Amino acid sequence: MLTVEEVEAHIERQHGRRHSNKVLHGHPSPLLWNHRDPPMTQIQAERARAQMVAPKHVSLYVATPYCLPTDPDRCGFCLFPSEVFTGQAELETYLRYLQREGEMYRSWFAQSQLGSIYFGGGTANLYRADVYPKLLDIVRDVFGQIPGNIEVTLEGIPQLFNRPKLERMKAAGFNRISMGVQQLQDDMIKLSGRKQTAKQVFQNLDICNELGLATSVDLIFGWPGQTVERMLDDLRQVVGAGVQHITHYELNVAGRSDFAMNHAATLPSSAQNLEMYKASREYLRAQGYHQDTVYDWAKTATEEEAIGAGRYVYEEQMRGFLTPDAERGAHGYETWGWGFAGCSYFVGTPSSPGWAIMNATRIDEYYAHLDAGRFPIERAYQYELPDLMLNWIFQRMQSCWLDGREFASLFGTSLHDEFATVWQAFERRGWLEQDEHGIRLVGDGPFYVPLLQTLIAMDRVVDIRKQQAEMFVPPAPVTPRRLPTVA
Ligand SMILES: C[S@@+](CC[C@H](N)C(=O)[O-])C[C@H]1O[C@@H](n2cnc3c(N)ncnc32)[C@H](O)[C@@H]1O
Ligand code: SF4
Repeated sequence: MLTVEEVEAHIERQHGRRHSNKVLHGHPSPLLWNHRDPPMTQIQAERARAQMVAPKHVSLYVATPYCLPTDPDRCGFCLFPSEVFTGQAELETYLRYLQREGEMYRSWFAQSQLGSIYFGGGTANLYRADVYPKLLDIVRDVFGQIPGNIEVTLEGIPQLFNRPKLERMKAAGFNRISMGVQQLQDDMIKLSGRKQTAKQVFQNLDICNELGLATSVDLIFGWPGQTVERMLDDLRQVVGAGVQHITHYELNVAGRSDFAMNHAATLPSSAQNLEMYKASREYLRAQGYHQDTVYDWAKTATEEEAIGAGRYVYEEQMRGFLTPDAERGAHGYETWGWGFAGCSYFVGTPSSPGWAIMNATRIDEYYAHLDAGRFPIERAYQYELPDLMLNWIFQRMQSCWLDGREFASLFGTSLHDEFATVWQAFERRGWLEQDEHGIRLVGDGPFYVPLLQTLIAMDRVVDIRKQQAEMFVPPAPVTPRRLPTVA
């Protein structure tokens, strides 16, 4: 473990730098998921055993792979896998394959209860209005009835919502709309190549309010050329429209995205992003929003107000993977990511830590697996106890509060003692407070969660890399494929 001085030196070197990997929801990063062909029968049996000890509700994520084409590609900033949409026929094909994957998992979920449903993407509002009831029928095919009191969200982009679609969504059983707005001002939107207008955003939010659909809006700060004032203008408009849940992400710039390659010169610095974060926090608090996670702001006050009032139950359940609260009947939640690039977290118990699984991130591969009768998996990771511990910390860190008693009851050790030097270094900066109940992120601490996550996972990531290097067996030589002959 690093000493406090070493941690402080690391923070000093890194805290002014842009973190290309923003807040992680789990540990380890999918880059370290090393199983290409995980033993699914064994995983199913392990999951079933873990469910007997600690039954969990399922947070269901259902993916749609496609997005409207943009210039620059992938909205210029997006790092999520997606495929370019070319027509409705593709969506019909995709839904048939999605059903086939559902059939493969039906026996896994026969005894499970749904805790929430989230249709995301890609772009989940590309479907025609009449398809939304079918989307939920596909879920019923696997789970039976959908409980009446759970959150059922559909995520989409502003220009693809309209009254007939929203009415069909509402009638079908969706009760929450999550709109990816990102930016409201035309010159800012233009950089992403997206064809959306502020008018579409507010018209659709009005229709949702009229229909009684809860709304959530995603905005991004740290956009090329953005200033604090322009960011606040967007927030003021969204708050003015009565949106009760706002996700305000810091722009993640990485890879070969257009923003990384062509807009580096106009990106705000990390210090300017911190100023934006603070200005946004001050503004949203003054407007009656409370910080539910590092990036999530909600206007509702209590649990009871959550469903139907805009609170993001799905996102919250992503975190609550394991609680020691036996009286609740189910101990937290597990996530099944169904479809293209879906990520599933079948997190188990300390004695059987479980698995993380990622589906194919290219549509032809997703189809090819299913055509061959295989689970459509690209990679998976088998957790070990240290990963489970880090996973718990990463997830709970989203809410800026780590409950020391809960940690001790799950893992039998003290949260304060684990990673003590990291907590101390953050405490010295005024970013974290410790007391006998737990550890809380305070001040600018939430902004530095990516740095905190890097530090506490550092030793374990080195161990994983070492283990994986030792396990590495060079692949058998393959005969190069012949190039097609051009006539
Ligand atoms: C996977 S996207 C899908 C949503 C929808 N297709 C859209 O474009 O609005 C979900 C959310 O992730 C966020 N996001 C995507 N790429 C991001 C990036 N590079 N940095 C920060 N947030 C990002 C956006 O706010 C987006 O609304
Ligand atoms: S930001 Fe949304 S619409 Fe754009 S490429 Fe990513 S998932 Fe698709």
